Amino acid sequence: MKKVEATSPGKIILCGEHAVVYGRPAIAVPVTDVQAQASIKMASTGGFRIIASDLKRDYLLAEAGSDDPLSTIIGMTLAQIKQTAPDVILSVTSTIPLGRGLGSGAAISTSIVRALAAFFEQTLAPAEVSKLVYEVEKLYHGIPSGIDNTVVAFEQPVYFVKGQAIERIEMRQSLTLIIGDTGVVSPTYQAVGDLRRRWQVEPEFYERYFDAIEAIVKQAKVALEQDRLSLSAFGQLMNENQTILKALQLSSPELERLIEAARQAGAMGAKLSGAGWGGNMIALVPPKKEMIEAVTQALFEAGATGVIVTNLD
Ligand code: PMV
Repeated sequence: MKKVEATSPGKIILCGEHAVVYGRPAIAVPVTDVQAQASIKMASTGGFRIIASDLKRDYLLAEAGSDDPLSTIIGMTLAQIKQTAPDVILSVTSTIPLGRGLGSGAAISTSIVRALAAFFEQTLAPAEVSKLVYEVEKLYHGIPSGIDNTVVAFEQPVYFVKGQAIERIEMRQSLTLIIGDTGVVSPTYQAVGDLRRRWQVEPEFYERYFDAIEAIVKQAKVALEQDRLSLSAFGQLMNENQTILKALQLSSPELERLIEAARQAGAMGAKLSGAGWGGNMIALVPPKKEMIEAVTQALFEAGATGVIVTNLD
């Protein structure tokens, strides 16, 4: 019996979130320690059945509501590869926490696109996958910059500017990052929408902050592509980015507690990652076992509900 599987990584934004919505650059990297998976197998039961066990859902594509994100990406992908819905079971699972800025939605959609293409023995280029996923992201997140779908579909560190060809970052050294979860669900569209309303009232005030973020992101790119990356200099850039995000009222007491705890425990830099108001923070740590353990423990003591240690190389 025919069966195909596809996976996609989570992601974090290293720097530049929010300003990226206003045309500034941002850097995002895939996080392969967590992933979404889609598998498709032929079934004689009739129809296209969707099983999303994490969401406790089991339903038929033909009966899905028009606002169902999974059926939307399935329909768009089938149209793109010029196929009709086959009689199959599509199972979707994910280890990426939902609504925490780790790109869970983009990763689930990407896995579905890849699995469907594989089922029909077709190849879609990362740019095509990214474009399809962006259409779904738009339906559920307002007007996203497109950074999530890009980094997840390309599975590479990216220097992303909205509307421009993607630029891959060639990292010369590995970075150890600890991702700390506040446990607070923060829908991206809420923080993005709030900032937009404030920007509309006082655009010059906010544009100055976005310019400052752009300068940080540009320095971060140069640092990442250097043969010898100074962890303390990179950590400093993360801290400066966090200072601006806090000034933009995008942090939260929970995020601040985790960020401060990580710094106190020896992290070289720490900031929120993604939309803010909750979700995850990231901390840069020297690649030493004792240091990783110390920061991990400090994060849990400060209230983290989950911690992921990831090496970016
Ligand atoms: O999807 P999240 O929560 O990682 O955040 C998206 C990043 C923002 O810059 C806040 C929004 C966007 O569309 O780029």
